[in-house]
Amino acid sequence: MIKVAPSILSADFARLGSEVEDIRLGGADYVHFDVMDGRFVPNLSIGIPVLKSLRKATEMFIDAHLMILEPVRYTEAFCKAGADLVNVHVEADSSERILAAIDTVKKLGKKAGVTLKPGTPAEAVLPYLDLVDLVLVMTVEPGFGGQSFMHAMLPKIETIRGWIDRMNPDCELEVDGGIDGSTAPLVKKAGANVLVAGSAVFKRPDRAKAISEIRNA
Ligand code: DX5
Ligand code: ZN
Repeated sequence: MIKVAPSILSADFARLGSEVEDIRLGGADYVHFDVMDGRFVPNLSIGIPVLKSLRKATEMFIDAHLMILEPVRYTEAFCKAGADLVNVHVEADSSERILAAIDTVKKLGKKAGVTLKPGTPAEAVLPYLDLVDLVLVMTVEPGFGGQSFMHAMLPKIETIRGWIDRMNPDCELEVDGGIDGSTAPLVKKAGANVLVAGSAVFKRPDRAKAISEIRNA
């Protein structure tokens, strides 16, 4: 089943509660929550206080994408603030400390994910594949919404789909960056099942239509 995860990075933050209610009514599966530290990526976004407020405002599944250095420093805080899934970048620390981040998330009863930047080879996921609930393949350089989809990521998605099917079939395969009605069929064909979309959902007046276009494209 294809899931759609609108990224609130493109939402109106002054009206976040009603923006998220709008995508819930529009059929979204997850809320994608982008956290940026100005170090791992050259931008800042939102963090723990906003997550706590959002948790009170919605029962939707919150998928927290941590674009931060040394994420193990904050994984417990994101779990306690209400994330349902905490996703860390494999490039953001040593493998020992990425494993510690995953372990913390799982011990707190939440789902754990790992993310690969466009320049990171598919193989980088292998040390974590049997431990995680989701792998995220970035299809743009992380840091900003509204960028163009990188077609060169399609073989990486196909490779990781093959490994997931063999080694951890319950693991989800998410893609993030430049997803809209025209790129969605490509990533689905390559094997992705969770599609993040920021501008293609929140910059459209009819969010239900935007979500169903991505899901059914
Ligand atoms: C980029 C973020 C994405 C972003 C996607 O660093 O991780 O989640 O919001 O935005 P679009 O869908 O506009 O490319
Ligand atoms: Zn993201």
